[in-house]
Amino acid sequence: MAVSIELVQGDITRETADAIVNAANTSLLGGSGVDGAIHRAGGPAILAETRLLGGCDTGDAKVSTAGDLHADYVIHTVGPVWCGGDDGEPELLASCYRRSIEVASRLGCATVAFPAISTGVFGYPVDRAAPIAVGVSHSAALASGSVRTVRHVLFSKRDHAAWVAAAGDLGLPVVLSG
Ligand code: AR6
Repeated sequence: MAVSIELVQGDITRETADAIVNAANTSLLGGSGVDGAIHRAGGPAILAETRLLGGCDTGDAKVSTAGDLHADYVIHTVGPVWCGGDDGEPELLASCYRRSIEVASRLGCATVAFPAISTGVFGYPVDRAAPIAVGVSHSAALASGSVRTVRHVLFSKRDHAAWVAAAGDLGLPVVLSG
């Protein structure tokens, strides 16, 4: 079955999806950026659960309730901190997208929304992150049992344009909005 890739410009906390992915840190105890926004919009139920998860390794993903968000689950993944690109960053970023889709598929999710993992506080260059985000999430969804729509929610116009360009370079058709 085909997988639909949607590229949206906006705030991921306003999205409706089966699962919303959070760009967290290894503590899973919250932070700034999209992590802070997800915890604020989702309410205290998320932290009450993530406290019990024992943290998360870089490149891995763990699930919690979505609290008040319009989703069934938040999937917390931990992207790599950019250290120049020779420290395994591309593999770890790919692993975030792959593991998040695997967790979503295990939960039976059809629609998964992703932010631009690692490209804020963690400093991953947007133009290098975009092809990994689009390509790996697409192939992982194709291989999954249940994920049929991958929605990338980009906060800025510039990031949205980078994701559009990456999908074009990969020859993947996309649905655009925002
Ligand atoms: N909706 C969509 N995207 C957003 C939103 C939002 N509401 N808010 C920010 N972004 P970042 P990282 C974008 O820094 O680089 C936290 O403290 C943002 O513009 O949130 O993986 C964690 O606890 C950028 O494009 O995540 C970690 O310690 C993208 O989300 C650390 O930051 C990712 O930026 C993780 O850093």
